[in-house]
Amino acid sequence: MAKTYDVAVIPGDGTGPEVVAEGIKVLNAVSKRFGFTLNYTYYNVGGEHYLKTGETMPEAVLTDLRRFRAIYLGAIGHPGVTPGILEKEVLLRTRFELDQYINLRPVKLYKGVDTPLKNKGPEDIDFVVVRENTEGLYAGAGGVLRKGTKDEVAVQESINTRKGVERCIRFAFDLTRKRNKKKMLTLCGKTNVLTYAFNLWERTFYEVAKEYPDIKTEYVHVDATCMWMVKNPEWFDVIVTDNMFGDIITDLGAMIQGGMGIACGGNINPEGVSMFEPIGGSAPKYTGKNVINPLAAILAGGMMLEYLGEEEAGRLVEQAVQEAVDKEIPSLEAGKMGRGTKEIGDLIEQYVSTL
Ligand code: IPM
Ligand code: MN
Repeated sequence: MAKTYDVAVIPGDGTGPEVVAEGIKVLNAVSKRFGFTLNYTYYNVGGEHYLKTGETMPEAVLTDLRRFRAIYLGAIGHPGVTPGILEKEVLLRTRFELDQYINLRPVKLYKGVDTPLKNKGPEDIDFVVVRENTEGLYAGAGGVLRKGTKDEVAVQESINTRKGVERCIRFAFDLTRKRNKKKMLTLCGKTNVLTYAFNLWERTFYEVAKEYPDIKTEYVHVDATCMWMVKNPEWFDVIVTDNMFGDIITDLGAMIQGGMGIACGGNINPEGVSMFEPIGGSAPKYTGKNVINPLAAILAGGMMLEYLGEEEAGRLVEQAVQEAVDKEIPSLEAGKMGRGTKEIGDLIEQYVSTL
């Protein structure tokens, strides 16, 4: 019996539906080749839906999402909706409620892709950021007093639990071992200023490290991490960090690997339902023009296959993208790819069918 995987699809806003359509095109081609089936259920969630109905993430949808093996997400974000609402109630809520405690973001420069870093190539830029995804400053703890007055007080607290920190660090050690590259895990933090939070991180890191004698460890402050990511990205193999720092350094990571057009990520619950997405947003100005780059969404689809256990199929998607960017796509920027969104999808579909 051929395997079937139930996948929830949230195309979302702006260019989300366009890039998801290309991702599905490729996923269908690759699943056909490997003889498994992806059974999609589409959900209409996002800015458009919110403006029409006032609903952000309906309770029933969130409950429903729990029964899938994975979620494939396009983008959430709408120019007509106050910033913060959709982010908090759709994206962050899903991450939290489904306990997707890892945000996995590979930073890999493919051959033939331009990086803004001078004298750096694919052999220098190949690492993964493991970002804690359910705690820290994102937990929403805090409050405001005397709002709107001269005496206003705003507090935003970073929540770090031993359990949350430890499971993230363990995931990062396991991944470093599995990658089997430099076998080096870097903890990125700010122990010199955030003396409570990163003391917990650092102690946990070195305690867990004892169980992984084959993995080298180092600690780097977040500011220095930014510096090294630009100056010596080849030093990194796997970086583990908290939610906020992970958010920031992965935008820097996306830039050095060739831009938002190619950067993908997974919101992972290793025991539950994980969600895969291109890191870039809904790009309203490019919407409906067939110019947005779908490669990040396509790669997110490949990452999803790996997590579904179809590792070979996932690798083929990445290999297809690698070949295509090297041989046929002059630039990864929207509108400068030498082809439209759909045509890039067709190209990758062709590669995964014939490689
Ligand atoms: C990301 C995004 C989100 C985050 C926003 C949209 C809430 O920037 O996935 O990196 O901060 O996590
Ligand atoms: Mn971000």
